[in-house]
Amino acid sequence: MLEANKTAAIKFGIDTHLIEEKTDTQKNVEILGEDLTFISVREFQRTKHVHRVHPYLGKFIPQLVEVFLRRYFIKGDTVLDPFSGSGTALIEANVLGMNSIGIELSPFNVLIQEVKAKGYNIPEVEKEIKDALKRLKVFSHRLQIKGRGQTLFDDKVERFETDSEYLKEWFSDRALQEILFLEQILL
Ligand SMILES: C[S@@+](CC[C@H](N)C(=O)[O-])C[C@H]1O[C@@H](n2cnc3c(N)ncnc32)[C@H](O)[C@@H]1O
Repeated sequence: MLEANKTAAIKFGIDTHLIEEKTDTQKNVEILGEDLTFISVREFQRTKHVHRVHPYLGKFIPQLVEVFLRRYFIKGDTVLDPFSGSGTALIEANVLGMNSIGIELSPFNVLIQEVKAKGYNIPEVEKEIKDALKRLKVFSHRLQIKGRGQTLFDDKVERFETDSEYLKEWFSDRALQEILFLEQILL
């Protein structure tokens, strides 16, 4: 194993012997320049740039994808990921100047990939988000009136309705109102 990964493994109490017994980390280092354990890669590096958009737990470590893209493809190539999930391989290919195509069964995962892969006018997006958060704060404040240690809902404030049983089941009334308010002003 690479020294940095060994050091990190010891720090995290991970048994390096077990890893080396099950995988040929040395061979991986010789062929790919990495031992592929990525134990020393920190969370902020694993979620670099757009990969933090959603905490999709089944995603590749981007550094892993990068090793294979650099080894087997060149700039201008087109990469196909037939199970593209949250789009890690698609994004990393784009970062390296490659085109990428994804196939994905789950509409929610397709949404994540699309959000991650789109081009944005960053100053415009920043302005819109700040404005939306400001309006949300006012709405959220107006939503509640406090009395005798209790939080009550202010009946004079416009309230939003949804048919989604999922949203009604999983979110408190206040959080749900905030989500629906944001949906209305952002879409
Ligand atoms: C482990 S995830 C891939 C994660 C991806 N590498 C990433 O970094 O986000 C596997 C994905 O394959 C998708 N999938 C499963 N069967 C599929 C099929 N028959 N066609 C397309 N996608 C499929 C699943 O919905 C899931 O998102």
